[in-house]
Order: sequence, then structure tokens, then C-alpha cells
Amino acid sequence: MKVLLIGSGGREHALAFGLLADSAVTQLHCAPGNPGMGEIATLHALDVMDNEATVNLANALEVDLVVIGPEAPLVNGVADKLRAAGFTTFGPSKAAAQLEGSKNFAKEVMNDAGVPTAKSFLCQNQIEIEKALDFFGAPFVVKDDGLAGGKGVVVTKDRDEALAHALACKRVVIEEFLDGPEISLFGISDGKNIIGMQPAQDFKRAYDGDSGANTGGMGAYSPLSWAPSEIVEQVQREVLAPMIAEMAARGTPFVGLLYAGIALTNHGLRIIEFNARFGDPETQVLIPRLRTPLATLLYKAATRDLAGVTLDWRDESAVAVVLAAPGYPGQPLLGGEVTNLPKIHCAEIFQAGTTKSGSGIVASGGRVLSITGIGSDLTEARNCAYRGISQIKLEGSFYRTDIALNASVAEKGN
Ligand SMILES: Nc1ncnc2c1ncn2[C@@H]1O[C@H](COP(=O)(O)OP(=O)(O)O)[C@@H](O)[C@H]1O
Ligand SMILES: [Mg+2]
Repeated sequence: MKVLLIGSGGREHALAFGLLADSAVTQLHCAPGNPGMGEIATLHALDVMDNEATVNLANALEVDLVVIGPEAPLVNGVADKLRAAGFTTFGPSKAAAQLEGSKNFAKEVMNDAGVPTAKSFLCQNQIEIEKALDFFGAPFVVKDDGLAGGKGVVVTKDRDEALAHALACKRVVIEEFLDGPEISLFGISDGKNIIGMQPAQDFKRAYDGDSGANTGGMGAYSPLSWAPSEIVEQVQREVLAPMIAEMAARGTPFVGLLYAGIALTNHGLRIIEFNARFGDPETQVLIPRLRTPLATLLYKAATRDLAGVTLDWRDESAVAVVLAAPGYPGQPLLGGEVTNLPKIHCAEIFQAGTTKSGSGIVASGGRVLSITGIGSDLTEARNCAYRGISQIKLEGSFYRTDIALNASVAEKGN
């Protein structure tokens, strides 16, 4: 099978690693990819927002499967164009990707599907905004309705800050504050069937102890030894299956990866949001743990053939730690040389914001790379990831030192 993978981040590098581990894959092409992906696959220059260029590339390569990594091209309708041109495509249509593209659309579908989520109001002017803020009270949760690259949501006790953010959005969703630990649970869907993956947890704040600004994610781990053992079955039954059924009933079946961001509250689970693609950095811990051949799995999803498929997981734990450029997530300082990437048998490095420079690489994005440690438990996996990341040199760079720390301590106590 010839596969074309679209995207260039840490998530795509991990997907490339997983796709290549499937013996069905004879060629892996990535566009535009990154230098790390270039070591294992053939790279092609591409503007991922140019749908025609993507179709042309798939045509030129005569690929059997196209996998779309990032949300922006999906919301831009690239999967529709690829399917219209006859390509087997893993990734939702433009209409189905609205589950990520519009927070309010996702709320409407959840409502119709009976999926539990925070109560919310869609507001279009200051009067509606203030009414909604005062209805819920602090802490305020204010969400830009559209794609905002991780910068659309403000959670604050400060009413003025909440109001200012709401006024800066074109359409804004204001919702009830959800208390409780957050988990990410992904489902792979063929439009009719959906298979829940194991849950993961990511770390959104920049610094240790969940301090600092929100980021795209500073680390992740899986499995979640502290989560209820029936969580996958419950999410499957109460969230994933009803969402897929509702999307199909609307005539816009969701074919691809449905990412459920979930708060485990005292009143039960509540959906925080859906994404329409693999999450980053959760993918960097899930893919190394997944034993089921990935390309074959995604091909089955893309060809509506998932009935009866189950997933096979390694018993090992995985912990991913992100190395960030100085200044991230504000205005990161780019261009620094990244050296000393270690080769460790228990760890995999997934590049993200890197570009080639001479014979080496330099930082070209805020999240430069991540390293996933694998071990018999979270403690071993952490030790491995941290042993690896501590060797990497990039001036002024930083990483969190407490990824999966609490979970690994709790696991030891069991
Ligand atoms: N209703 C809510 N209650 C509490 N925290 C929330 C709520 N909605 C979102 N958050 C926090 O804000 C983060 C970002 O919100 P999310 O809806 O996932 O938007 P995005 O990922 O598009 O930025 C979440 O991971 C969560 O920590
Ligand atoms: Mg989110």
C-alpha cells in the first residue's frame, strides 16, 4: 500500500512511525513533513491549504491511502476533494469536520445525540454575552466559535477579561465551568462504526505544576492507571457511538478520527470539545503503544470496513515530553541549532518545529520536538523520556519536568 500523509508536526511524525511499522505499507510519502519524517519517508513540498495541489500530489504518486493530520485542511474541505478524485481518504469531510470547526455546531450535534456537555449559549452581541456571563458566574468559560489554533478559549475568574475576549470573537460560545480531571479519548470511525482507543492525558500549561500560559500541549502519557477501568466502554456507548450515528443521520457521516476531550466531573463525564483529527501530543504516546497495524486500520476506516475490528495494545506505558523553544508559547525565539539528539532503545524522538540547516536542524516552531519513553510502567517510561530529553541541546529551550509524575506516583502506590 502506498500512503500519503499530510502534515508536518509531532503528531504526523508519530503517525509516520506507526504507518511504517505496518508491513502492508510499501511506500510512505509525507507532505510537507519535517526533517525527522524525512529520515523515514519521502517528503514532498506542499501548501496543505491548497486542496488542488494536494489532489495533484496524490495523483502524481498514485497513492492507495491519504491520511490527513491537521484540522485546518480538513475544515478547508481537502477530504471532499480527494474523495471526489477517487482517493481512499482517512479524514472527515468539510461538513463533518465542523465538529471541530465550530464549537456551537458541536454543541448542537451533542444536544441531538444526547451526549453530555457543559450547558452553553451562543452569543452574538454584548447584551447576550453579559447575560450569559452572569447566568453562569465565575469561573467564566469563553470560547471563540471557530478554529483559533488553540488560542480561542479563555477560562478566567476575571469578568472583565472574559468580556474582553468574548467581544473580540465574531461568534462566541459561553459555557458552564466543568470541574475535574481532563482526559482525551480518540475514536476511529468509518462513518458507521467507531472504535475507541485507550485514553491519554495531556499537559496544556507551559510550566511545572500546571502554571504558565496555555500551549498546544507540553507532554502526554498513557495508559491512565487512575481512570475508571470501564472508561473506554462508557465513552464508546455514551459519546462516540451516538455522535457517529447522529452525524450519519444528518447525511454527513464522520470518517476519520473523532477526538473527545472529556472532563470527569462529580456529576459524570462531560464533553469539553471534539476535534476532527489525532491530537498532539497524545498521538505520540498512543501510536507507539498500538499493536494493531495502523495503515490497515485507517484504510479499513476510509473504506467503511471497520465492523468487527478491535484494537490490540501493548502493555507498556508511554510518556511524551515536549521540548519548546525559548519564549514559547508567546513569541518563541526560532533559528537555534538543535543538537545531540540521543539514540535510546526505549525512546522515540518525534520532530515538530524543525527545519534542515546544513547537515543539522534548527528550531522553526515553538514546539520543537517531543520524545516518547516506553517502559513497563509510567515510572520507567518517564525515566527513559527524561534521560533522553536532558541530553538534547537547544539554547534557552525548556520542558516540563512533571509530565505523568503524579500518575506514576499513584501507580506505585497501588
Ligand atoms: N467548560 C469548561 N470548563 C472548564 N475548563 C474548560 C471548559 N472548556 C474548556 N476548558 C479548558 O480550556 C481548554 C481549551 O478548551 P477547548 O474547548 O479544548 O478548546 P481548544 O482546544 O480549541 O483551545 C480545555 O482543555 C480545558 O482545560
Ligand atoms: Mg482542546
